Amino acid sequence: KKRIFSGIQPSGYFTLGNYLGALKNWVTLQNDYDCIFCVVDLHALTVRQEPKHLRKRTYDSFVQLLACGIDPQKALLFIQSYVSAHTELAWILDCYTYMGELNRMTQFKDKAEKHSDNINAGLFTYPSLMAADILLYQTDLVPVGDDQKQHIELTRDLANRFNNTYSPTFMVPEGYYPKTGARIMSLQEPEKKMSKSDENENGFIMLLEEPSMIMKKIKRAVTDSENEVRYDRENKAGISNLMEIYSSLTEKSFEEIENEFKGIGYGEFKIAVGEAVIKELDPIQKRFKELSSDKAYVEKLIQEGAQKAEALAYKTLRKVKKKIGLYQVK
Ligand code: TYM
Repeated sequence: KKRIFSGIQPSGYFTLGNYLGALKNWVTLQNDYDCIFCVVDLHALTVRQEPKHLRKRTYDSFVQLLACGIDPQKALLFIQSYVSAHTELAWILDCYTYMGELNRMTQFKDKAEKHSDNINAGLFTYPSLMAADILLYQTDLVPVGDDQKQHIELTRDLANRFNNTYSPTFMVPEGYYPKTGARIMSLQEPEKKMSKSDENENGFIMLLEEPSMIMKKIKRAVTDSENEVRYDRENKAGISNLMEIYSSLTEKSFEEIENEFKGIGYGEFKIAVGEAVIKELDPIQKRFKELSSDKAYVEKLIQEGAQKAEALAYKTLRKVKKKIGLYQVK
């Protein structure tokens, strides 16, 4: 079986973008692949976090993944900071990553602009920690949204660089992107991706959001002055984004959607999108409520996941240390 690894930051509550771009795929893939999924709490530190919020969101992130349908019998689920091999390999990879490569990362540039009061070294070297996450587990495929493409490319470059400098050590992973939903945009600024850390809460929908609020946000979504449901990313970014959401949830093609809403207009289309989102999220919200109160069960899974991940990660880390010349007593 091929190995899959992917991660998600607990820097906020998961959004519909996270779900359609990544999580929905994770749930499907766990049936056919050897899957490892990780709550990457160390990555969240690149932006200032309130400790008690980070702690709660990390727990809630773990439970949200379970609620989405990640099955701990099928997939390995763990929290990044429990496995110190991640930061160890990240340091080593830092020493094989060029400043120029990190400088080109658009996510760094965006975040540095947004958090200009806190452009820290971790924000800059974020991609080599992400590469460490992936490379530790000899990953074949990384299911992510479009915004992670550049990071995956860098991970591949680092793997190849290391393998060529020493000898084959890392599997060279490939990105795995969904056909629709790979890039869900903000409901308020459809030129910008939907993000869990957006200050404008009307821009995103959270998985745990109240149905009435979901409907309200979709009804308020920015569209255009026409009244024709038609897919045109350039000129009709808002409507195209809602079509993308609807298409990912119903598996209808854009053409089918255009026909379904021909002559009907935006009002009803938005209601249909809202209903589709609410229907999809309803079972997730129910499971979240059930599971999150069962702390003993969740914490047992957190510990078991960490142990399994640690065993796998250290195998790769030991090989790496040996190849680069760190002294090891036999
Ligand atoms: P993060 O936490 O920002 O997002 C988690 C996943 O959701 C996807 N995503 C989106 N997909 C479609 N539309 C959107 N608007 C949208 N917003 C987010 C992301 O592409 C991602 O798949 N750097 C990663 C976390 C990470 C990671 C890893 C991922 C750390 N180590 C190793 C894969 C493998 C991140 O910040 O994701």
